[in-house]
Amino acid sequence: MRMNNLSQMVGNTDLLKVESLSRLTGCDIYLKCEFQNPGGSIKDRAALQMVLDAQESGELKPGMTIVEGTAGNTGIGLAIIAKAMGYDLQVVMPKGQTIEKERLIGLHGANLTLVDPCPFKDQNHFYHTARRLGEENENYWWANQFENLSNYRAHYLNTGPEIWQQTEGEVDIFVSVCGTGGTIAGNSHYLKEQNENVEVWLVDPDGSGIHSFLRDGEYKSSGSSFTEGVGIMRTVDNFRKAKIDKAINLPDRDLVTVAHYLSQNDAIVLGSSSALNVAGALRAASVSGPGKTIVTFACDLGERSFSKLYNPEFLAEKDMLGEMESPDVEALYKRYQDQAMEGVVEVKS
Ligand SMILES: Cc1ncc(COP(=O)(O)O)c(C=O)c1O
Repeated sequence: MRMNNLSQMVGNTDLLKVESLSRLTGCDIYLKCEFQNPGGSIKDRAALQMVLDAQESGELKPGMTIVEGTAGNTGIGLAIIAKAMGYDLQVVMPKGQTIEKERLIGLHGANLTLVDPCPFKDQNHFYHTARRLGEENENYWWANQFENLSNYRAHYLNTGPEIWQQTEGEVDIFVSVCGTGGTIAGNSHYLKEQNENVEVWLVDPDGSGIHSFLRDGEYKSSGSSFTEGVGIMRTVDNFRKAKIDKAINLPDRDLVTVAHYLSQNDAIVLGSSSALNVAGALRAASVSGPGKTIVTFACDLGERSFSKLYNPEFLAEKDMLGEMESPDVEALYKRYQDQAMEGVVEVKS
């Protein structure tokens, strides 16, 4: 298609069947290829919608600077949208995210401030730093992807309808990770409005508290994860709108197996949150049994995870080199089948 502007290239991503895992499970497992967005991630959708809505409401005026706190992908998305629409961008990111994302934000001409990672209650957290910059500078507009419901709307208005059309209404199970919750909220809302029987699974990494919150109302976490942009320890407005049926917690070890199996067998190179999504799809298939259509996301470009997920030295430090060298996805699936509903939280809404 002919486009006049990068912002017109956001969305309308393809749905790709994962052949090997569909054969293994007897389900049709599909990946929505969000790496096709111009900034290489699903967060381009939220970035565009937040800017469009703020322009329409008058909050974002010509000549203003957009400011946002992000693990990286929203920053890259906003950098593209800001440039396409004539705004400056100030990004605040915690240190320790993959260097690939930091470089891209710079490459797109945005101003990048790195802060030390710290708990949310600390005022130096990237979220508070971005908020303060927005409050202290009259000419700044803070995008606030966590509480700004334009993020949810991006998926309710676009991603959900795309999935519904691409599957011709045949989607049985929808699986998603959660960072701000915009993705899972917008898509679950739209898909359940079309068919209330679509089953929504949330997949949470170690170190995040969503799984425990959905199980017993408290944010508790154990362990840690090298995934980026997913997991949270508080309830934000975008997540509040999600309609979730089942929630699981999966360790990084499982996503390393899935990522390396798919890169070796299907030529699909997933980022770490996307590999967690696919592990979640396998877990859902192990409970549902064969015959279901399962949709999840390839959230971003696999290249963005080279320095961690595809780096043998990094994986060796984490004692996960074995999962990289011989990724036994059949054993993983067998373990999931043996676990049955163990660890699966059934969410009552
Ligand atoms: C790579 C990646 N995957 C998934 C997500 C989570 O998406 P959401 O914020 O819509 O919950 C993010 C969010 O930044 C991300 O960067």
